[in-house]
Amino acid sequence: TIIVLDFGSQYSQLIARRIRECRVYSRIMPFNTPAETIRAERPQGIILSGGPSSVYAENAPKCDPAIFELGIPILGICYGLQLMIQTLGGEIARGRAREYGKAILEIAEPGELFVGVSPKTQVWMSHGDKVARMPEGGFRVLGSSGNTEFCAVHMPERNLYGIQFHPEVVHTPEGKSIIGNFCRRICGCAGDWTMESFIEQQLREIRATVGKSNVILGLSGGVDSSVAAALIHKAIGKQLNCIFVNNGVLRKNEAERVRELFGRNFDMKLIYVDATDRFLSKLAGVDEPEKKRKIIGNEFVTVFDEASAKIENAEFLAQGTTYPDVIESVPIDGNPAAMIKSHHNVGGLPEEMKFKLLEPLSRLFKDEVREVGRQLGLPEDVVMRQPFPGPGLAVRHLGAVTRETLDILRDADEIVVDEIKKAGLYYSIWQTFAVFLPVRTVGVMGDERTYDYVIALRAVESSDGMTADWVQLPYDLLGRISSRIINEVNGVNRVVYDITSKPPGTIEWE
Ligand code: XMP
Repeated sequence: TIIVLDFGSQYSQLIARRIRECRVYSRIMPFNTPAETIRAERPQGIILSGGPSSVYAENAPKCDPAIFELGIPILGICYGLQLMIQTLGGEIARGRAREYGKAILEIAEPGELFVGVSPKTQVWMSHGDKVARMPEGGFRVLGSSGNTEFCAVHMPERNLYGIQFHPEVVHTPEGKSIIGNFCRRICGCAGDWTMESFIEQQLREIRATVGKSNVILGLSGGVDSSVAAALIHKAIGKQLNCIFVNNGVLRKNEAERVRELFGRNFDMKLIYVDATDRFLSKLAGVDEPEKKRKIIGNEFVTVFDEASAKIENAEFLAQGTTYPDVIESVPIDGNPAAMIKSHHNVGGLPEEMKFKLLEPLSRLFKDEVREVGRQLGLPEDVVMRQPFPGPGLAVRHLGAVTRETLDILRDADEIVVDEIKKAGLYYSIWQTFAVFLPVRTVGVMGDERTYDYVIALRAVESSDGMTADWVQLPYDLLGRISSRIINEVNGVNRVVYDITSKPPGTIEWE
């Protein structure tokens, strides 16, 4: 294990993911984790992340200085380097030499860190402060950039390394080799963290945990719950009881698809609850977005409780919780990455739960979850599925939902997804979907005047849903989608394109 101490960098998770791409297990811990706690984890190495602060700032996040005495190799990145140098008696120069963007690192002495890296290599810089003077005793310079003399440093005696640039971002093309060298050559990690080994280990663990009792899982059709279901099913077969609730605001044919794949192909025990009528009657006439969300959330809990109460000997509730859901965020002023996670991923399940939780994916990043899903035989269009909100089409249908207008949205949505897939863009765009606007505009079709609804298209690029950019879809693709929707979906005579990023917009319209 390599521990990443998080000083509030937007890149901390990226560091942890890069380490795992080198087949080494990594965990993120808050910057102020006591050295004793870290030692108890018995990591083979520690990486100090970057961070938005200056080491001289009043509330600058500081790690327990005792970590430098643990005898465990440490790599400080950017702020992490500066903190290491300052803690050990060196000096940091404030502000003067801001550097942001590409730079060339000239390696003077490769040591173990730069084995296999070109002597002049592009690196990504993003810092205001820099090292002005090294501590006494034993630090060597491994490399410099035009602007930064102490760009890569090493203290052999204690196996400490520091780099001013960010090896975790794509703009440092050889960054992965550098991280790999640290983990494998310097820390001696074996590099045996693979999804095959993860699955093997989880199958054993799930069986041992569950014993002879039954497990309940709320299947939504999304990536996380699907992969969790496939994994647990492989471990315990029919002891897994999946509950799939049709809340009346699913996409077209979604319920059929889920029943076909999990019920038939995988032969899982699948309890299908068609609660469309219940949901839609509760939603009738409700046009306020938060109210719609609440109704759907509460009704789901009720329906789910009823269905699960019928399952005998159920001791566990399984969830597709993933690692980003459980990483403790570091509250540092002015750091957007530290923002509290938005309402949705949490919640949805009752507080006074009578079940024990089973969360076999809680150590995995999303790309690892997908890989596990693939290895378990889930099709690509399930493991690569775009995110879909819990309240479903209700938050893409402005105003109060009705069966008729939901059908209009479903048909339009299907055309959008179909065309985006045909264009080969579905898997590279974060989300693409249709929004139903309950306003009518005048049009002309054939010789007739029409007075019909509007569909808005939304396509956004994002890495975590917290921020997003609207995508510049090709005009001809936009044209195809628009004419197909207007020709094939009764009740729509106008299609518009949403060109709002997040912020200031949100991804969903409600
Ligand atoms: P917003 O609209 O807040 O969405 O920019 C950010 C991401 O979260 C998804 N989303 C939800 N997911 N339950 C969910 O499980 C919800 O209530 C919910 N609302 C939004 C949205 O699709 C986007 O990926």
